[in-house]
Amino acid sequence: MNLANIRKIGILGAGTMGSGVAEIFAESGYDVIFYNRSEAGMQRGLGRIRSNQGTLIRNDILTQAEAEAAQERIHPTHDLTDLAPADVISESIAENLEMKVALFRKLDQICSEKAILTTNTSGLNITQIAAAVSQPERFAGLHYVNPPHIIPLVEIIKGEETSDATCECLIDLAKEMKKEPVLVQKDVPGFVSVRLQFAVMREALHLVEEGIASPADIDAVMKHGLGLRWALLGPLEIADLGGLDVFHTISNYLFKSLSNATDSPKVLKDSVAAGKLGAKSGSGFYDYSPGKAQQIIADRDEKLLEMLRLKSRGTLA
Ligand SMILES: NC(=O)c1ccc[n+]([C@@H]2O[C@H](COP(=O)([O-])OP(=O)(O)OC[C@H]3O[C@@H](n4cnc5c(N)ncnc54)[C@H](O)[C@@H]3O)[C@@H](O)[C@H]2O)c1
Repeated sequence: MNLANIRKIGILGAGTMGSGVAEIFAESGYDVIFYNRSEAGMQRGLGRIRSNQGTLIRNDILTQAEAEAAQERIHPTHDLTDLAPADVISESIAENLEMKVALFRKLDQICSEKAILTTNTSGLNITQIAAAVSQPERFAGLHYVNPPHIIPLVEIIKGEETSDATCECLIDLAKEMKKEPVLVQKDVPGFVSVRLQFAVMREALHLVEEGIASPADIDAVMKHGLGLRWALLGPLEIADLGGLDVFHTISNYLFKSLSNATDSPKVLKDSVAAGKLGAKSGSGFYDYSPGKAQQIIADRDEKLLEMLRLKSRGTLA
């Protein structure tokens, strides 16, 4: 398979990620076969696509006509056999190894022997999922960051059997969709993005547990300091600018005081046991009145688009 042969994309799962991924392929001109088990879930997914597109239209990134044309390229189905003509499969069902393996066993019987098969798992082992298909060299991780219709990064994860040709084709495809592909060369849990995110998360939870700063102040350090800078320069670029000798010295005394916890910390265990699951239950580190989380997400998406606009103008790196 190469980029020129790719016409139809099969998307599995119409949840948060699957609907965003279906949208970006359709907006890039591909025909999308959009599979979800339930009709109610499919309708929620299609509604999410219309709502996402509304944000893009308000921000002059998409016209109404382009949005409607993209919607027409999306063909919903509840029948797995409809995925037979797909040139590329992008799976975004529940984060459960057995479910993903069972699904790919079925797809292996349905899809063309030339199709490229991908999973959007957040951190499950790509090689283990690939073992469900007869040609694991055509299987890879294709990992998006939420919200996938806005965030440019796409990680392409090489399983132990994934061929270079499969990775190259997925890199070309991601570029065609105006995404920023990164190749993860070893099949490690969490790839690169989730590992970096959870390294920061482990330390943030440690700081809360030790009473070193409040959740609001820890979040403020990221929003008004480190996160802002990381949108321009990655940690290794920052190390080069700061001087590797300086980072070497700091690493020597600081690493030993950072959290090296190997289990989820007490603060998370206790919150989950108390039913405090964050926005979806009304409280977590903060309280959420009805509609507040949706407002935060809408505001986030508008600001992300503004930041990306500045980046594309060269105002941001
Ligand atoms: N949410 C994120 O931030 C994020 C980011 C990157 C990757 N991911 C990964 O993407 C995948 C989907 O995550 P999500 O947040 O969209 O979840 P979600 O719960 O919003 O959606 C999952 C969808 O898959 C369907 N589904 C569940 N089990 C199924 C099965 N056995 N067969 C067919 N359909 C099934 C559900 O009906 C639902 O429509 C997961 O693997 C997740 O780890 C999530």
